[in-house]
Amino acid sequence: MKKILLFLSVFTTMVILTGCTLGTSEGDNTVTVYSERHYDTDQLLFDQFEQETGIKVNVVKASADELINKLETEGEDTSADLLIISDAGRLHLAKEKDLLQSISSETLEDNIPSNYQDADNQWFGLTKRARVLVYHPDRVSVDELSTYESLLDSKWANRIVVRSGSNIYNQSLIASFIAINGEEETRTFINGLVNNFSRDPEGNDRDQAKAVMAGIADIAIMNTYYMGKMANSSDPYEVEVANKLKVFFPNQETTGTHINISAAGVTKHSENKENAIKLIEFLSSIEAQSTFANANYEYPVNPNVEPADLLKSWGDFIAQDINLTQLGVYSSQAAIIMDEEGWK
Ligand SMILES: [Fe+2]
Repeated sequence: MKKILLFLSVFTTMVILTGCTLGTSEGDNTVTVYSERHYDTDQLLFDQFEQETGIKVNVVKASADELINKLETEGEDTSADLLIISDAGRLHLAKEKDLLQSISSETLEDNIPSNYQDADNQWFGLTKRARVLVYHPDRVSVDELSTYESLLDSKWANRIVVRSGSNIYNQSLIASFIAINGEEETRTFINGLVNNFSRDPEGNDRDQAKAVMAGIADIAIMNTYYMGKMANSSDPYEVEVANKLKVFFPNQETTGTHINISAAGVTKHSENKENAIKLIEFLSSIEAQSTFANANYEYPVNPNVEPADLLKSWGDFIAQDINLTQLGVYSSQAAIIMDEEGWK
């Protein structure tokens, strides 16, 4: 009986040791990504990276704030190597909370323009999107449109839709206004905009376009890539919506259209730092940037990659001239004043 027990315990120890060894070698060849992005494109790119390098990509998806909290709570014990968020503001907050680290990579310096990188190389932009006006050409003529601010005019009463004020895209839009115009003017803007809403905010960006199509409103404020995704959707109604509605880049003669980026940063306690850097380098490559452009309709950050034809058909535009870290600096102030001024 003793012999059997001894055998079992030796056997068990061996299994545990073998398991550990396997675990460690696998640990060396993985990269764990905490990502806020919710697109099939990203999984496709991770699979491609895995095939090309043999490095296994583990993905944990949650909202930006949830991922930042998770990193804070986990501290040194985190398994995350890379944080990917579709908001420069939240990346900046992660940096401020000391959750990221500076890295150096010639490939990234070559592929990503400096205005889309953190000054200390703690995060690197991957894709770009603009928050534009989408309008119904039967009810709005293009020469009636000019700026975000002009939407406060009483002629737009009951004609504007946009998603909830708690949404990160809207908070960054308002953060950019605080950076450019100051808090008082921004409060006036929010208040006037809310007055012209045709309904209480509901749904996502695509739902705003559908509301314009259905006649609930005439103008939606939304991100460019959703127009691209709808134009190429498997849902025929989305294709119809995208083909009918038009895109307008506001503030071309004033402060520029609001843009935001998705960006990636290596976590402070990453145990697979080299793999994490390799993955960002891969995502900034011409190959991956073309996938972001042609499959997810985002503007590539790599200047050697062209946007998708649909995006090119809307023409070039001038973006807000602010450092994107400002979106992080003003994001909590933005959330507070949006709530106070009634953008729920
Ligand atoms: Fe989105």
